[in-house]
Amino acid sequence: MTSLISCSSNVSVTLLISVWVTFVIIATAGNFYQDFDITWGDGRAQILNNGELLTLSLDKTSGSGFQSKNEYLFGKIDMQLKLVPGNSAGTVTAYYLRSEGSAWDEIDFEFLGNLSGDPYILHTNVFSQGKGDREQQFYLWFDPTADFHTYSILWNPQRIIFYVDGTPIREFKNLESIGVPFPKNQPMRIQSSLWNGDDWATRGGLVKIDWSQAPFTASYRNFNADACTRSSGASSICNSNSPANNNNPPWLLEELDSAGQEALQWVQRNYMIYNYCSDTKRFPQGLPPECTAK
Ligand SMILES: *[C@@H]1O[C@H](CO)[C@@H](O)[C@H](O)[C@H]1NC(C)=O
Repeated sequence: MTSLISCSSNVSVTLLISVWVTFVIIATAGNFYQDFDITWGDGRAQILNNGELLTLSLDKTSGSGFQSKNEYLFGKIDMQLKLVPGNSAGTVTAYYLRSEGSAWDEIDFEFLGNLSGDPYILHTNVFSQGKGDREQQFYLWFDPTADFHTYSILWNPQRIIFYVDGTPIREFKNLESIGVPFPKNQPMRIQSSLWNGDDWATRGGLVKIDWSQAPFTASYRNFNADACTRSSGASSICNSNSPANNNNPPWLLEELDSAGQEALQWVQRNYMIYNYCSDTKRFPQGLPPECTAK
């Protein structure tokens, strides 16, 4: 596993940058026992292969879910997922970062299942201080049920970038300068769940779950976080205004270079099927400011 230093969650002090008082930079190549807790599902979520594999399942009685033990404030977080195969219509596999409270921040990947042979939708959203309404949806350029693929979130003080197998599909920039709140003060946990979303997920709710196919199962492996995380018991948070310094990890200043910009445009041109920024009907008072920013 590639990582600068691998460490257990409560011995995560590896590289401490002076201004980052109670948060520490860690690089962890994941073990599900070490990094995650199963949060619900009464046995439907399982950690297997000595912590290298996690599976979630959904049947008529319940779905299931897990969350990270750590709370993260900025970082680059990778997870490989293999989604529910076959007739997965109506199922939703959600994988996201989320903070607590009523003015929460959230960065979402949601995978909306479909009938066998019909395409999944990858639904994304960004919430800042409890406000979302920033959906973008995509088809994928591969079958996400045939194998594991890597879904990554880069989150630093300047931007959030969603990646699929290293290809950027969406960027949400810090535009606080024009009054758009940006997630940067609330640490978030990684959360994931598999649940019944058949009132809206597939063809807008037209196609329901076929329970004769249950249980439905999604699998996770190769979690990796290069991130800033709250050390156990500490209460204050990372100072996101800290000046760059030579010890900073690469993700802290990461941005799209010209090849990255081109890749992002390729995805948006060819695979994006919904963009809130193009939905003028939905925003009769005018598009949100981040949509029209230069
Ligand atoms: C499911 O397949 C239909 C037909 O190809 C498509 O319109 C829809 O976008 C697909 N995905 C979902 C999640 O509904």
